[in-house]
Amino acid sequence: MTYLPQEDRYNTMIYNRCGKWGLKLPAVSLGLWHNFGGIDHFENARAMLHRAFDLGITHFDLANNYGPPPGSAEENFGKILKQDFSSFRDELIISSKAGYLMWPGPYGEWGTRKYILASLDQSLKRMGLEYVDIFYSHRPDPDTPLEETMMALDRAVRSGKALYVGISNYPADLAKQASQILKELGTPCLIHQPRYSMFERWVENGLLDVLEEEGIGCIPFSPLAQGLLTDKYLNGIPEGSRATREVFLKKEDVESAHDKILKLNQIAVERGQSLAQMALAWILKDKRITSVLIGASSVQQIEDNVATLKKLPFSADELKAIDEIIR
Ligand SMILES: NC(=O)c1ccc[n+]([C@@H]2O[C@H](COP(=O)([O-])OP(=O)(O)OC[C@H]3O[C@@H](n4cnc5c(N)ncnc54)[C@H](OP(=O)(O)O)[C@@H]3O)[C@@H](O)[C@H]2O)c1
Repeated sequence: MTYLPQEDRYNTMIYNRCGKWGLKLPAVSLGLWHNFGGIDHFENARAMLHRAFDLGITHFDLANNYGPPPGSAEENFGKILKQDFSSFRDELIISSKAGYLMWPGPYGEWGTRKYILASLDQSLKRMGLEYVDIFYSHRPDPDTPLEETMMALDRAVRSGKALYVGISNYPADLAKQASQILKELGTPCLIHQPRYSMFERWVENGLLDVLEEEGIGCIPFSPLAQGLLTDKYLNGIPEGSRATREVFLKKEDVESAHDKILKLNQIAVERGQSLAQMALAWILKDKRITSVLIGASSVQQIEDNVATLKKLPFSADELKAIDEIIR
């Protein structure tokens, strides 16, 4: 079956600039951490990418280790790109990252120049790409000077293998230092990718201020707390959900959040939207946020999440009620 994207795909999506930079990302971006790997259903992954693009999602986020097995999400993405998106490369923003364990030995993880640049070459090969649009240091390395990691990112851009660079999981002080080093090198930081949701608000204590000062964009990951902030777990743990795998999301996480989820869902119902939509709108209310980086296991979830954009504003009373539940 040949994929032909919908012609009206740019009509309803909102596109925001990354901090002070010109590059725009869709307000909702799609990550391929789960459900796109070698163990997953290939045609479902393909259908999700088609639907996402049809809805105006131009940004797909990967990392060297996404799968399982590690690397297989990039391989599957590469196959789908070749099959269905080869005429649309210039309409896509594709990111990848290096930082977590990818191969054995002392050069297979963290932030050395050796690892970062070898990993980028591997990612490009798996995806069949000449360059990625954004290349990230996936996490700060406590044993490698920040200069070395940032010099590797700078090199990635200068060699034409990445157009922009970003950092992920860097606390506020390190983000500021990284930004200053990158500026001196002449390859400024485009964007930061932190974990941020109603249930994890650490970025509000300094990081967002640093990003604003430095003109860097922000694309929060796990904005739905891996599915907790949706209607998925309102009545227990459904078969096939991420919490049944007990790896990244545990049954005890669901149990401890259950009371809050019920109360938040009530507010979402009163607003006339799903809990997932309210959780995404709540993040997007801060103008420093460029995009929310969602995950999905079905086309329907992507549709539900993109429909967030139909109702973004909150009343002061709604914000107060939400704050009382989540603080
Ligand atoms: N930089 C980093 O260190 C880092 C770390 C983690 C993630 N990320 C990036 O962020 C992306 C998103 O992370 P995430 O998958 O944890 O995000 P998330 O959006 O918080 O969670 C996604 C999961 O929530 C459920 N879901 C999504 N929409 C739903 C809806 N409308 N209704 C019901 N359930 C819904 C699905 O769970 P089921 O699968 O159970 O259906 C889906 O797999 C990743 O793919 C990756 O690109 C980056």
